[in-house]
Amino acid sequence: MQYVAAIDQGTTGTRCLLVSHGGAVVGQAYETHEQQYPKPGWVEHDPTVLWENTKTVVTDALADAGLAATDLVAIGVTNQRETTVLWDGATGEPIHDAIVWQDRRTTERIEQLEPEWIRDRTGLEPDAYFSASKLEWLLNEVEGARERAEAGELRFGTVDSWLVSKLTGEHVTDVTNASRTMLFDIHDLRWDGDLLAEFDVPREVLPTVVPSSDPESYGAASEDGFLGAEIPVAGVLGDQQAALFGQTCFEAGSAKNTYGTGSFLLVNTGPEPVESDHGLLTTVAFQRAGEEPRYALEGSIFTTGAAIEWLEDVSLVENPAEMETLARSVDSTDGVYVVPAFSGLGAPHWDGRARGTILGLTRGTGREHIARATLESIGFQTHDVLAAMAADTGENIDRLRVDGGAVQNDLLCELQATIADCTIARPAVDETTALGAAYAAGLAVGYWEDLDALREQHRTERVFRPDETVDMDGRYARWNEAVDRARDWARE
Ligand code: G3P
Repeated sequence: MQYVAAIDQGTTGTRCLLVSHGGAVVGQAYETHEQQYPKPGWVEHDPTVLWENTKTVVTDALADAGLAATDLVAIGVTNQRETTVLWDGATGEPIHDAIVWQDRRTTERIEQLEPEWIRDRTGLEPDAYFSASKLEWLLNEVEGARERAEAGELRFGTVDSWLVSKLTGEHVTDVTNASRTMLFDIHDLRWDGDLLAEFDVPREVLPTVVPSSDPESYGAASEDGFLGAEIPVAGVLGDQQAALFGQTCFEAGSAKNTYGTGSFLLVNTGPEPVESDHGLLTTVAFQRAGEEPRYALEGSIFTTGAAIEWLEDVSLVENPAEMETLARSVDSTDGVYVVPAFSGLGAPHWDGRARGTILGLTRGTGREHIARATLESIGFQTHDVLAAMAADTGENIDRLRVDGGAVQNDLLCELQATIADCTIARPAVDETTALGAAYAAGLAVGYWEDLDALREQHRTERVFRPDETVDMDGRYARWNEAVDRARDWARE
């Protein structure tokens, strides 16, 4: 028997899943890494630790399953997107810590840009979230970086490129990750010369852009590497696109929402990119070798699961399990609204200066009301993105596939169905991000024959339907007022 290994290098940790031909997870391992906050609004990761943890989880997952590296047919990689790494091509050493997607240090720089110009080429809303201004910052601020970059000594990459370069020595990235850099033309599928000039990025640092599912372009882990066997890397996708793929959202109109640190709702829009007039991003969903790409509209919500973590950090809630018990102990928030804009607001508002806000407190407010209002805030933010998608595509999404750690909370799924007025479908395998990377790699090497084979093995574990007795109209209005108050708070 052979298996596919999927590496999921995410914001808070690194996971490896070993997936069988039937789509079962036969082994897994997970390691967290340190979050570094050198200044308010700055977030960094040590790229060397990300690579060390990757090796550890692959080795541990094999041990977990009682398998050897030679039992692997291919490796898939999926990753936190936008996070920016710059390393020395000769030594493979990073020249600075990775600047994480949540990092706000380049907000002022972004405000100098003409939004229309950026949107037309990249499908993105100009924001410090994307890699372009992070790379510019590294080139300007790390001593000697620009000269070394121009001399061809440095390599830029998002985390996929970084890990693939360590695994196989190739300097490549897939189209989905490239589409999150704000340097990539999503129509022509190539680096955009004008954007490279705007951010003063020398072409020498850029990876080659290749399809997401591809048996040739990524190279193979070598026999003298940590695996001790030659295994091709054949699938790479940014983590949100990987979850879309893992949820088998292969047709236009199918949508998923992943509830991690933030939430990322993607709807497949087919072979043509759909422009958004309502604050969504147009992005590449996936591309199989030799085929046209598929596009998606994305609503990137910066803070959802992280709001639950914050409640734990400030000791309002002991652990995720208590979150549900506490929030269920009341049947309403008693008028409390939480807007968890810790890193500003992403889609559909795009306000980097918004900050977290709790409104409607009375002397009778307890932590249970705040816990419930936090879960509701996740539901409301998703509702806002679904409304924007309906406005952009002219079609309502009435079924949403969900995944990510927070969907183990049944109350969240129940509230989400009612607040978004939409059926929520939770899959049997909840690690859909890693599963998507495994699918992309396995398809490329012929381990799975085609998309139908994957569709057939997708299983829904539970469906949540809206509670039609709840009247939401007044509550949407209150939520919108709360969002208005959170906005523009961090202006100078
Ligand atoms: O765009 C950021 C996203 O890719 C991060 O996802 O799951 O690592 O928080 P996650």
